[in-house]
Amino acid sequence: MITKPKGTVDITGTDSILWEYVNEVVSTMMHAYNYEYIRTPIFESRELFHRSVGDTSDIVKKETYDFQDKGERNLTLRPEGTAGVVRSFIENKNYALPDIKKYFYNGTMYRYERPQKGRLREFTQFGVEVLGSNDPIIDAEVISLQYHILEALHISNLQVNINSLGDLESRENYKKALVKYLEPHLDELCEDCRERFKTNPLRILDCKVDKDSSILKNAPKTIDYLNKESKERFDTVLKYLDYLDIDYEVDSQIVRGLDYYDHTVFEIVSLDKEETKANVLGGGGRYNKLIKELDGPDSYGIGFACGMDRIIDVLKEIDLYKTVEKQIDCFVMYVSEEEKLYALDIVQNLRLNGVVTETNSLNKSLKGQFSEADRLKAKYLIILNNEDLQKGLVNVKDNATKEEEKVDISEIVEYIIGNL
Ligand code: HAM
Repeated sequence: MITKPKGTVDITGTDSILWEYVNEVVSTMMHAYNYEYIRTPIFESRELFHRSVGDTSDIVKKETYDFQDKGERNLTLRPEGTAGVVRSFIENKNYALPDIKKYFYNGTMYRYERPQKGRLREFTQFGVEVLGSNDPIIDAEVISLQYHILEALHISNLQVNINSLGDLESRENYKKALVKYLEPHLDELCEDCRERFKTNPLRILDCKVDKDSSILKNAPKTIDYLNKESKERFDTVLKYLDYLDIDYEVDSQIVRGLDYYDHTVFEIVSLDKEETKANVLGGGGRYNKLIKELDGPDSYGIGFACGMDRIIDVLKEIDLYKTVEKQIDCFVMYVSEEEKLYALDIVQNLRLNGVVTETNSLNKSLKGQFSEADRLKAKYLIILNNEDLQKGLVNVKDNATKEEEKVDISEIVEYIIGNL
């Protein structure tokens, strides 16, 4: 038997109902906030991720799916969505358009991680990228959108953990302080961190091995090294979040695992879930240097991404699927070949009018069809029989009240729609 690759999932049954439900809520909220759908390729040139996510990040160093195509191009399956959106914004010269660009996306990402709960090798993210504005109102909008999507999905006890990395000057000052602090403790850090110390010391702060060590817990905090401008900017973002009534906690340990961030960085967690990395439902931040870094103009960017698979796990824990259980509107029942011809026409008519309809497609007895209709939780049963059909009538049974009524065949669609 051929099995699915390690770290991937099949989405079927109850899961697929939840996926569709989440996609619908996400899309509705994105449109309410006036975000435009963008779809970029699942593979991009390898260089894009090296120059954005960063050569020294764990994602690029250890987790990318790299391959060469038949034309010997070095390509990578995208490990995240931001780089592709920014690449597209630059390549299509969308920066030349008036107004800012607000994109949303929803697609699969690929990271060669050790598979475990909430950590897959193929996973799905939905996210946004806002390009062209440095106004803190956008930081607040992006965080509020992420928060309210999760709230609309009935996920309670949400908390935004937020931090600021500041501008380049602030980060350079911080880096110096961090290096000075870590130098005497190098022997106590893991081998990877000793390497990170030389290449990109900030990455030590999100090391999966040393994360909980007292050395890292007592490390200098980025917010203590913000220059005046960066500090004022961060305070303004927090003020706007207060006005929006978003629950947040300033968490100096958040530096994020991707290299492109500056200023605001944040993660959103469900406090209902035990404290593991898998309770991080989404994260994001500002990246005001990335567009220029990727050969675009000097412009601004901020965004977030949420892990769909983790969100679905939470929804399963809170039994939400019971409220989004699939139910059909109508089941059309028949036995004879003549009745079947009427069924074909009635089923099509109902479906084309938006009524979710199913019919007998396994040549079942009436008894078998009643059972199938119950399994599908049909609200109405339309039971065809030759005698009534000759008179232009069909039997309609309300499956909840069990009441039956004869309805003129020409009025069946209006009747069902009127009663749904
Ligand atoms: P990230 O923190 O790497 O950020 O990923 C965002 C979310 O994707 C995580 O919080 C998590 O829910 C989900 N996720 C990440 N890796 C996995 C995995 N292996 N399995 C399942 N879920 C996972 C980014 O990707 C940035 N591009 C976010 C961003 C957008 N920043 C600015 N704009």
